Amino acid sequence: MELKHRPRRLRANAAIRNMVRENHVRVDDLIYPMFVIYGENTKNEIPSMPGVYQYSLDLFVDALKEVVDLGVPAILLFGIPESKDAVGTGAYHEHGIVQEAVRVAKKYYPDLYVITDVCLCEYTDHGHCGLIMDGQILNDPTLDLLTQTAISHAQAGADMVAPSDMMDGRVGALRQGLDQAGFTNIPVMAYSAKFASGFYGPFREAAGSTPQFGDRRTYQMDPPNGNEAMLETALDIEEGADLIIVKPALAYGDITYRTKQRFGVPVVAYNVSGEYSMVKAASAQGWIDEERIVMESLVSMKRAGADLIITYHALDVARWLQK
Ligand code: PBG
Repeated sequence: MELKHRPRRLRANAAIRNMVRENHVRVDDLIYPMFVIYGENTKNEIPSMPGVYQYSLDLFVDALKEVVDLGVPAILLFGIPESKDAVGTGAYHEHGIVQEAVRVAKKYYPDLYVITDVCLCEYTDHGHCGLIMDGQILNDPTLDLLTQTAISHAQAGADMVAPSDMMDGRVGALRQGLDQAGFTNIPVMAYSAKFASGFYGPFREAAGSTPQFGDRRTYQMDPPNGNEAMLETALDIEEGADLIIVKPALAYGDITYRTKQRFGVPVVAYNVSGEYSMVKAASAQGWIDEERIVMESLVSMKRAGADLIITYHALDVARWLQK
């Protein structure tokens, strides 16, 4: 056979495959989400997320050592407050759980990059991401509380804030508030294309943030919509977002691709809780090879155009990359 093109030539052995590999997952790409809780000597494993824990602050510090030792550069913090109320006071309290966790992290590991999730749903008794009146999730009155939350995180020493509430105008509100409070250099990583997804189920167990009535469809995006994700992203960039999150990652690779192609900004894929749980459950049964499946999934996010990946697998990935 006189075949001129034989793509198999460049697959003949590991050396050449490694040489022509187009995309890589690096430890520097990883952001590790962590959950902090009040109390002492507490490390609660999330039943639906084996290997993921809610940490009291003393054990959180121990866990951070592992993160740092493995070379994972950044964490994304979520808090479980002591008590909840209608206005989510715990979210923006000076001594809220996330604010305290940021201080502890920065005290022991000043070089670890600390990102905070900015939202009200873990702190409100109704479990929604905004204020409620007559069963409606209010937009504009929520913005002020989100801004206070972001400022309180920055005051505690956070390196970056990540609003995940999906209220209209929150990026602009946060940017203005941070600037006025003197935090002009704190970037905003916006959950711009955040879909109303079934893949967040296990997270709500981890963060205790299941809505007590209704669902999040009046503020998170409708899964079939791609053009709308481009609009949300354009608005957030216009309002001052520095990085754009696409969430969930696996079922929304087209959104990651379009976002990168169209805007060229740093794009972050959020490999969410349900995606993690599915892999863990199947690999516990021996049905899939966990390492292969995780690495293949994460590199698909890089191939689609993600620069960074938020993943509960981060520590395992860091270990695998060291081999
Ligand atoms: C808070 C928030 C959620 C997630 C990140 N920030 C939950 C939600 O919107 O219900 C989900 C993360 C995950 O599933 O891993 N608004």
